[in-house]
Amino acid sequence: MRVGFAQFNPIFGKKDQNVAKALSLIENADAELMVLPELFDTGYVFQSKEETLKLASPIPESNTVKELKRFSADKKMAVIAGIAEREGDKAYNSAITVLPNGSLYKYRKYHLFYKEKIHFESGKLPIEIVPYKDARIGMMICFDWIFPEMCRLLALKGANIICHPSNLVLPYCQKAMVTRCLENRVFSITCNRTGTEKRAGEEFKFTGMSRIVTPEGNVLCDGSRVKEQVEVVDINLKMADNKNVTAYNHVIEDRRTDLYSL
Ligand code: ACM
Repeated sequence: MRVGFAQFNPIFGKKDQNVAKALSLIENADAELMVLPELFDTGYVFQSKEETLKLASPIPESNTVKELKRFSADKKMAVIAGIAEREGDKAYNSAITVLPNGSLYKYRKYHLFYKEKIHFESGKLPIEIVPYKDARIGMMICFDWIFPEMCRLLALKGANIICHPSNLVLPYCQKAMVTRCLENRVFSITCNRTGTEKRAGEEFKFTGMSRIVTPEGNVLCDGSRVKEQVEVVDINLKMADNKNVTAYNHVIEDRRTDLYSL
């Protein structure tokens, strides 16, 4: 399957502009599946919960979702993207997968980072794995990476590719994803944004370096630290069906769950 990412620098609050920008970046990608960054239409640094609620939109009514669905059907491309979701007086940092057949799947970020804890509710929806051609897509968002349980859960639920919209600021995740893929024998696509947001007395420098990793922990492709970049690679998803590290070592079946309880 041909899969990839588009990293870029969204402008805070300019939703229509950011959606148009992202879609223009991927419209000529020769890909069946593309990943966009976390909160790709709103930007990241909210000043208050009120501001978050004002910019967040309900799913599926949001214009961003409608545009992604139209694009996906037209280009026959699955798109995974992070967006701010509003439900009543609550906001969620969510990721969606839109498929060319019109299906829509949603994940609400479980592990909120820093002041996201002020601006968003943490998600509680059960994980859904998205079937698409040979892919079984598991979604997680940015800081979820630091909890190994997250990738493990996605792998145990059957994901063979983890799609990971991100707004990373710490320097650890890109390296960690090599281990996450190796220990679960899955592919991952981390799509991180670039640029700097200076708002609310805070400055966030996003680290770019989006990355695609194989079940053997090999890096197929790295984004630059600062530049807007679109990358597509061809992967064989069957690789993720083999959970054996050696003929004697299976990363799922060999877990000593009989010994892990506290
Ligand atoms: C993050 O979770 N956006 C660092």
